Amino acid sequence: MTPIGIFDSGYGGLTILREIRKVLPEYDYIYLGDNARTPYGTRSFEVVYEFTRQAVAKLFDMGCQLVILACNTASAKALRSIQMIDLPQWDANRRVLGVIRPTVECINSVTRTGHVGVLATTGTIKSGSYPLEIHKLFPHIEVAGMACPMWVPLVENNEAHGDGADYFVSKNIAELLATDKEIDAVILGCTHYPLLLPKIRKYMPQGITIVTQGELVADSLKDYLHRHPEMDTRCTKGGNCMYYTTEAEEKFVDSASVFLNKPVDVRHLTLE
Ligand code: DGL
Repeated sequence: MTPIGIFDSGYGGLTILREIRKVLPEYDYIYLGDNARTPYGTRSFEVVYEFTRQAVAKLFDMGCQLVILACNTASAKALRSIQMIDLPQWDANRRVLGVIRPTVECINSVTRTGHVGVLATTGTIKSGSYPLEIHKLFPHIEVAGMACPMWVPLVENNEAHGDGADYFVSKNIAELLATDKEIDAVILGCTHYPLLLPKIRKYMPQGITIVTQGELVADSLKDYLHRHPEMDTRCTKGGNCMYYTTEAEEKFVDSASVFLNKPVDVRHLTLE
């Protein structure tokens, strides 16, 4: 079996996997969550690169030819180094893709004012990857970013629907919008954030479009496989999905089942 690997620091990538499986149900998948070492968003470039590199190497060992970094922090801080340094040494025919580029491609058609906000982890905001990628395609768009360091811990600790989430979600949205009154589109630049959508909708003023990544990444992957038949034929199509976590299996089962609305069978593995 040659599954498509989907990697995230924790549960967030499940929001991407869910949309990918809707669009491409026939493929085989392996989901890997590095839950034991989440969050990545407050870690240094070197650490995120090393952790992500270990995860991709493991997914390659498990037979994946194509790996999606379903994590903005890993896409921002590790993708380029893995593509430039590691892939040529490991196997130049395999591929690793990120989630930032597919997300920004739509942005010009979403904003009318040309002022866009990005909510993401501290690491993603500090990397400057969103303004960089948006300006490559649409140099005229103004981009404001706001780090939301508490949002991933809220999700990872099953607090997405609690009062703490109200406090931090309203605070960070207000902080972002205060930086630029003309923002009319806000990218949720972290794959965990759709799990906070009820709270985000509650505090986002009407008229501001919330951009989530799942469908955008799924459509982009479909397009990629269509344009690369040599990769498409190497990915097996049995409709299976296996889940792996670096944390205790019971912990992943409890939370992931809630996010996916169905029971999941998960196995533990170690990254090193
Ligand atoms: N889902 C990851 C992202 O998209 C969360 C990063 C973290 O672990 O802090 O950035």
